[in-house]
Amino acid sequence: MKDSVNRTPEGIKIHNPGDFAGMHKAGRLVAETLDMVTDEVKPGVSTAHIDKLIETFIYDHGATSATIGYRGYQHASCISLNHVVCHGIPSEKTLRDGDILNIDVTAILDGWYGDTSRMYVAGESNKKSERLINVTHDALMRAIAAVKPGNHFGDLGHAIQSFAEGQRCSVVRDFCGHGLGRVFHDAPNVLHYGKPGTGPMIRAGMFFTIEPMVNLGRAGTKILADGWTAVTRDRSLSAQFEHSIGVTDTGCEIFTLSPKGLFHPLKSGDAV
Ligand code: MF3
Ligand code: CO
Ligand code: CO
Repeated sequence: MKDSVNRTPEGIKIHNPGDFAGMHKAGRLVAETLDMVTDEVKPGVSTAHIDKLIETFIYDHGATSATIGYRGYQHASCISLNHVVCHGIPSEKTLRDGDILNIDVTAILDGWYGDTSRMYVAGESNKKSERLINVTHDALMRAIAAVKPGNHFGDLGHAIQSFAEGQRCSVVRDFCGHGLGRVFHDAPNVLHYGKPGTGPMIRAGMFFTIEPMVNLGRAGTKILADGWTAVTRDRSLSAQFEHSIGVTDTGCEIFTLSPKGLFHPLKSGDAV
């Protein structure tokens, strides 16, 4: 069947019920990858070392990295420290006590893409970074709770924006979530801000990521000279969580749940 037959007028692909299994496998693998590095995220360890562990784990499990070779990117993960918003490049720089970091992994397993990121703390956290991590995580989970057929993408953006701004934080507007499936970045752009009832309608069979970036300061970002690293303009702390999800008749399934319950770094043991 022609691919376009299964797309909405906005170009959003509607997958078959049988496609969920492949996404669950790919999503589980990237979630396991993030679980695997948990004990390695500590002061003195380089982000390049963590990236190598990630690359090895992905290939050892019969998958490939979606980011190696993507638009010239050369690593199996993005590792974004402190005021880095996203797309931080792994390097020989070592973690320091109190650093907060997002690790983002995308892998391809049997043709399906799994994409997830979560926050980690190296050593001891502090109240300020804990608050940002909690707000960002809760913003994502509120958006996921609003995913069901008949709702609109603007409802998700609104859930994130209204909550984060109500907590005196700001939502980054320069990057968004995305459709995925047998491709990395597909329609729609999933905005992390918006108004209720606006944007495309959500329908069963849609697969997409939600990946809000929330700052303690202002929302503005800039890209460093390396062409990748996005930082907050005001150098305030930034956090991000990302899940890949699929819309069902009644709500959604999260493909990237942590098998070990480690998604939230300060609440390990929780199912999210
Ligand atoms: N994983 C990121 C996302 O959530 C994209 C990273 S692209 C890279 O969409 F090239 F920077 F790795
Ligand atoms: Co993504
Ligand atoms: Co990602």
